[in-house]
Amino acid sequence: MLLKCAKLYIFWYYINMSNLNKIVLTGDRPTGRLHLGHFVGSIQNRVKLQNDADKSFYMIADMQALTDNANNPEKVRSNVIEVALDNLACGIDPKKTIMFIQSGIPEIAELTVIFLNLVTLARLKRNPTVKDEMKQKGFGENVPAGFLAYPVSQAADILFCKSNLIPVGEDQLPVLEQVNEIVDDFNRFYGETFTRVKHLVGDTPRLMGTDGNIKMGKSLNNGIYLSDTKEVISKKVMGMYTDPKHIHVEDPGEVKGNVVFSYLDIFDPNKDEIEELKAQYKKGGLGDVVIKKRLIEVLESIISPIREKREELAKNPEAVMKILKEGTISAQAIAKQTMAEVKKALKINYF
Ligand code: TRP
Repeated sequence: MLLKCAKLYIFWYYINMSNLNKIVLTGDRPTGRLHLGHFVGSIQNRVKLQNDADKSFYMIADMQALTDNANNPEKVRSNVIEVALDNLACGIDPKKTIMFIQSGIPEIAELTVIFLNLVTLARLKRNPTVKDEMKQKGFGENVPAGFLAYPVSQAADILFCKSNLIPVGEDQLPVLEQVNEIVDDFNRFYGETFTRVKHLVGDTPRLMGTDGNIKMGKSLNNGIYLSDTKEVISKKVMGMYTDPKHIHVEDPGEVKGNVVFSYLDIFDPNKDEIEELKAQYKKGGLGDVVIKKRLIEVLESIISPIREKREELAKNPEAVMKILKEGTISAQAIAKQTMAEVKKALKINYF
């Protein structure tokens, strides 16, 4: 009995100790401002997690952005500050989260080269996330090798600081699956070094675009941005797809597949009222303009505090760059430690 209790206690202690060691990392490609899809898919979780993680990292993935923007470094450069502003405005606190720039950590590139030996070309081509993005970008066989291999460099992003909890949008799950395969192979070949990672997807893993497309995407021109003004939000909501057969106010309308109701379901805090509105819409007698006006107010109440904080922060870009510089320096120290361990494991620690 005593032994059983002791065992239980050890188990409890182990679980809690391992809980204590919660290292969170996430990142964005600096290819454009961030939208509501990022907010519900990942940013809300990042902001929450920074409070109870042991360490929390936010990375601006400029090298990853270059994998499909090799001819447009200016675009990547100018968006570094934009994604930093978006995250800060949403509540990422540089006192709690180490905010850094990927290219400032050369060890990530070094680890990528090592991990590339653990991954086959066939496996990379099969990755559903990469496949989808390749289709969307129209690469076909002419995909840049760096782009095809980005899940491998993403493994390096995650593992250089031994992070184990990754808040992401649903589209990134196949990438994390591949990261765990790399962890397993690395540990099998070179000894226990990394731990498998867990993902955390937001309550709304995938937000539909304003055009009804299943995904809101930076390059799909169907997003509502965290920096959009009320006028822009209004225009986008007014142009939203509802039910093409709902022509007159008296006509019964379809709620399923109706973008306005999908958004109200996600963002409107008053669920009971939305259920009533849906019933009324289905019966007939509720016009699109009424529900759209409601959605505009709901979205404005979420976005306006973010937009205002963003505008404030944007007045002082030097201060934002200073945050990124200091974060990058902290991350560099951690990367050096991991790299020393990895070199030892690979027996390439000669001198
Ligand atoms: N691939 C991610 C995206 O497109 C961005 C990213 C890069 C990332 N490195 C990461 C996300 C590491 C989580 C962890 O959104």
